[in-house]
Amino acid sequence: MAKPISIEVWNPSGKYRVVSTKSMPGTRWIRLLTNNDCRLEICTEQKTILSVDDILALIGDRCDGVIGQLTEDWGDVLFSALKRAGGTAFSNMAVGYNNVDVEAANRNGIAVGNTPGVLTETTAELAASLTLSAARRIVEADQFMRAGLYDGWLPHLFVGNLLKGQTVGVIGAGRIGSAYARMMIEGFKMNLIYYDLYQATRLEKFVTAYGQFLKANGEEPVTWKRAATMEDVLREADVISLHPVLDKTTYHLINPERLAIMKKDAVLVNASRGPVIDEVALVEHLKANPMFRVGLDVFEDEPYMKPGLADMKNAVVVPHIASASKWTREGMATLTALNVLGKIKGYPVWGNPNQVEPFLEENSTPPRACPSIVNAKQLGW
Ligand code: DGY
Repeated sequence: MAKPISIEVWNPSGKYRVVSTKSMPGTRWIRLLTNNDCRLEICTEQKTILSVDDILALIGDRCDGVIGQLTEDWGDVLFSALKRAGGTAFSNMAVGYNNVDVEAANRNGIAVGNTPGVLTETTAELAASLTLSAARRIVEADQFMRAGLYDGWLPHLFVGNLLKGQTVGVIGAGRIGSAYARMMIEGFKMNLIYYDLYQATRLEKFVTAYGQFLKANGEEPVTWKRAATMEDVLREADVISLHPVLDKTTYHLINPERLAIMKKDAVLVNASRGPVIDEVALVEHLKANPMFRVGLDVFEDEPYMKPGLADMKNAVVVPHIASASKWTREGMATLTALNVLGKIKGYPVWGNPNQVEPFLEENSTPPRACPSIVNAKQLGW
């Protein structure tokens, strides 16, 4: 029998039992559930990553829905347990759901929610922060300063890369990739080269219009190019930011061969998923090319880093915090709660998961819909 696990209970007499495997920012998500007849149980176990057994214990014999985290392994074991407990709804507190076996959820008739539309700008801002930190060696310089090593201005001290007029390369120009590209183009007047299976028409139009605006003001216009291959982006760009989803086709997208064709002083940024980069190869590349810099929010074997990465001064590393702004994290919590609540109540699925603002209005009643269910079609919804 699974061991008991510590929980905090809200609205004990609620008709529907909803479990959240973690406490989440804000209180609106709690109010939305408890005001709608849910008994909410929040796991308070002092353990960052819950095991499948821990979650089985949380689901127990009767459970209508679960809010889970991207660190958890949601596959057949958990979805069948949720089904046996009478549950129909699960929501990941993330836009990415590579930790979820959607086929297994389908087999068990469980709806899988995610949280798009609320973390685009926040994630893009973190990718931009990593770009600047890596290009201008902010972390190295900060450590130098704190170590008391600064004894006066020097011409060579922490010389980095200028972004203005350089080329930003974006691999995956979806919501987040496009938002990041706009920030780098508008903020630093970089030219764009991107690779995506789909044409990023809105992004292209933006760059064209911004280029015309700059030209009309006597400045050098920015330009854009849609690359025929990913290799073209890697060869041409001074800064490359990765924004693909993680699947079989993007695992180790950045490998030794691709690292070798990048500029020796390029900046590589990853705020998507760790396994998109072969991290062992990256460490070797960083060692061999001290002018090459990376900014990483995600890691191949999270929460661990591959040996040697932590010693590399040309790497800026942060612990998967790309979506960590207060507004976004509270919004993500709200969307997860509404995904689960909506399914329990039998609401329809919202028409456009990218436009979830109506759900996020702090002081108004959210629409009677599930903001984003990734397997709605497969469940015949
Ligand atoms: C996501 O949502 O997929 C991020 O990785 C966490 O915010």
